[in-house]
Amino acid sequence: APGTEATAPPEVSLDGGESLLAWLRRMRAEQPVWRDAAGKVHVFRHEDIQRIVADPAAFSSDTVTRLSGGERQPPGGTLLLLDPPRHGKLRRLVSKVFTAKMVSDLAPRITQVATELLDGIDAARDDRFDVVESFANPLPVIVISSMLGVPPSDRPLFQVWADNLLTVDWETPEGMEVMGRTVQELDAYLRKHVTERREQERDDLISTLVRAEVDGETLNDDDVVSFAALLLLAGHVTTAVLLGNMLLSLDLEPELPAELRADRSRIPAFTEEVLRYRPPFLKIERVPTADTKIAGELVAENTMMYLWLLSANRDEQVFAEPDRFLTDRPNAKQMAFGHGIHYCLGAPLARMEGQIALNLMLDRYADIQVDHGTGLSYFDNRVNVFGLRQLPVSVRRV
Ligand code: HEM
Repeated sequence: APGTEATAPPEVSLDGGESLLAWLRRMRAEQPVWRDAAGKVHVFRHEDIQRIVADPAAFSSDTVTRLSGGERQPPGGTLLLLDPPRHGKLRRLVSKVFTAKMVSDLAPRITQVATELLDGIDAARDDRFDVVESFANPLPVIVISSMLGVPPSDRPLFQVWADNLLTVDWETPEGMEVMGRTVQELDAYLRKHVTERREQERDDLISTLVRAEVDGETLNDDDVVSFAALLLLAGHVTTAVLLGNMLLSLDLEPELPAELRADRSRIPAFTEEVLRYRPPFLKIERVPTADTKIAGELVAENTMMYLWLLSANRDEQVFAEPDRFLTDRPNAKQMAFGHGIHYCLGAPLARMEGQIALNLMLDRYADIQVDHGTGLSYFDNRVNVFGLRQLPVSVRRV
């Protein structure tokens, strides 16, 4: 069985994860497959993680059904938790409405939303502000809610729901209670919108999902509600974290701001390196469908497995000098968006939002300094997020 000697991962704290990175480096070298005190198995090497996610028959994404012994099932439209063949059907259906063209058509709208947010910040004439709170958080929520066709002014609700689902401790009774309430509220909110679209279509994503068809199959209300919920939540905190990580990376690499200002065409390559270096999700989950071996270690059927994307992205077997930030390195193998059939549906949207947002900030501010004193804080380890909760910056306007 996998070894159990190692201790729990250290906190991601004010060092920006340096101790966590050191722990992951040691685990890749010494215990690439590790069983924690709760019996869950952690996988650290890029090669193993890639092989696992490339094999959905052997490694299921449906953690809910498998870990509850079939007692509970995920809501029907929760793409992320579906296995083939159901996954493929739903994915084909939603890919039809979530196309590259639809995403690139959104560029003007994203620019408009981002510009309005920055105008709001600049109207206050305050040279120091929390860029997560005032810009990185609202931007993706406003974009995804206007895509779906739910009022962006309901943003405070989405924020509370997303925070609850992300930060609440599932293992306590209070946590379960908050979780149940959150899921119910979100469900009721979206169901109202889906019902309205069935009665009267509009030009929005919920309407498109309601009429979408693949192989003669359409989505029922439950599917549309759970898929819309996934989009509303999945696209929101992660993209905000990406933008924060882009600004932090710019601040920590002294030559970068001048380089990117001189040649904006390097921003896409910079974004990929940020995704590799500071992936917004620390890890993803899979469950083996039969007893199996990973890197020679036996892992039993239906064991919860954590696949560490941050570790895969820093694996020295795949990335030369992995702990150096190098804008132009080959990055096709970075795993921030996963790999295989569940590869992030929103990746083109997230990249575009990050790039538009950064370009607009570089246009407006001649200088952006992160304030490393009080006010800067990271998501802690109970949350599966590698990034900043608060990011105070000081700017000099052009
Ligand atoms: C799947 C990360 C933004 C929607 C995933 C997965 C990862 C990921 C790692 C795969 C999970 C797995 O294999 O278990 C990210 C990151 C983002 C981001 C780092 C931002 C930087 C978005 C956005 C949307 C979105 C903006 C939509 C608006 C989805 C959906 C899936 C998914 C629907 C499930 C796909 C499937 O199961 O086939 N994302 N995501 N994501 N993401 Fe994202």
